[in-house]
Amino acid sequence: MTRFKHHMLKEIFEQPAAVRDTAKAAGDDASGGKFYQLSWKNAGLEKLSRIVIAASGTSRHAGIAGKFMIESLAGVPVDVDYASEFQLSPVVVSPETPTIVITQSGETADTLAALRKAKNSGSKVITISNVAGSSMMKEADFQIHTKAGPELAVPSTKAFTAQLTALFLFALFLAERRGRIGSDAAREIRAELDALPQKLQTTLSLDTQCETLARRYARCTDFIFAARGVHCAVAMDGALKLKEVSYLHAEAFPSGEILHGPLATIDENMTVFALAAVDSGDSDSQARYEKTLSNLKELKGRSSKVIALAVEGDSRVARIVEDIIYVPKAPDLLLPILEIVPLQLFAYHIAVLLGRNVDNPRSLAKAVVTD
Ligand code: F6R
Repeated sequence: MTRFKHHMLKEIFEQPAAVRDTAKAAGDDASGGKFYQLSWKNAGLEKLSRIVIAASGTSRHAGIAGKFMIESLAGVPVDVDYASEFQLSPVVVSPETPTIVITQSGETADTLAALRKAKNSGSKVITISNVAGSSMMKEADFQIHTKAGPELAVPSTKAFTAQLTALFLFALFLAERRGRIGSDAAREIRAELDALPQKLQTTLSLDTQCETLARRYARCTDFIFAARGVHCAVAMDGALKLKEVSYLHAEAFPSGEILHGPLATIDENMTVFALAAVDSGDSDSQARYEKTLSNLKELKGRSSKVIALAVEGDSRVARIVEDIIYVPKAPDLLLPILEIVPLQLFAYHIAVLLGRNVDNPRSLAKAVVTD
């Protein structure tokens, strides 16, 4: 492992390659017909009316971001379910409703059961997995292989950003196949994705700042992560990463939802991690940002322990909060791939400071193969 003390840290630093290699495997063409060199002819992608995503843990968080990507780019409604709930629920899928299962290991028992339920209902199943020969890749009708390489640490990091990459490409592919965007627009969007590995490299240089912040906040025991839109998926995974490696209490909420109950828990003992990154070229993102700034003021009035994440060049967040992490600018749907990195690093450093076993947290396994 040479310069890295833990697999988790090494794998966080391997994310530029995970994203680049996953995008490369989809083919150079923005999304044109050869997505992952597979024949999608029988997938019924042109006529589908809805997509269901079933997954667990971090993979479900990727699915939540995937919902925003597919709905925004391809205009197809997406439902995201916990695999453990989907397998036993009355949720109906049919031949017109493909099911996407997302699983880093390809072996999670609940997700495998969800896949089988979907297949039994006549739904075509697409598995997105990091393990090519896994059970769920074998049983699916279509496979998308994320190219993160072996992930040894139990907390999933690079497999997550590879899943986000695959879902973004799938959304783009679907958008083009369904005539929602033309090939020139698809190429421009693909170029933004191809620029991410370089931006991820820049984001990794936040490691020292994240370690400093971890020192400042390591004695805190309660954390709330807040975000809006596609960024909620990042908040959820930031909270999950922190709780699984540090054993601290962390929860995530859509920022607006905090007013409907969780606000009562926010005082000087609560640390709030607020995601306030914006794509200023996107009016919806800008509208969410304006609301986030007013939430930030409200939160800052209740706790001095507020950390914010913003895009480089932002000066408004700094007028409200002192502890800010800046990530490079990117289109709104791609920002999650950058935003998650400082959250992973923050969780990692807190856990190390607390003397936790970051690669093998207590009670957890790399693949939960029994339910
Ligand atoms: C968290 C983590 C777990 C897994 C979950 C599903 O860091 O790794 O939440 O995401 O157990 O596992 P897979 O993706 O293998 O189905």
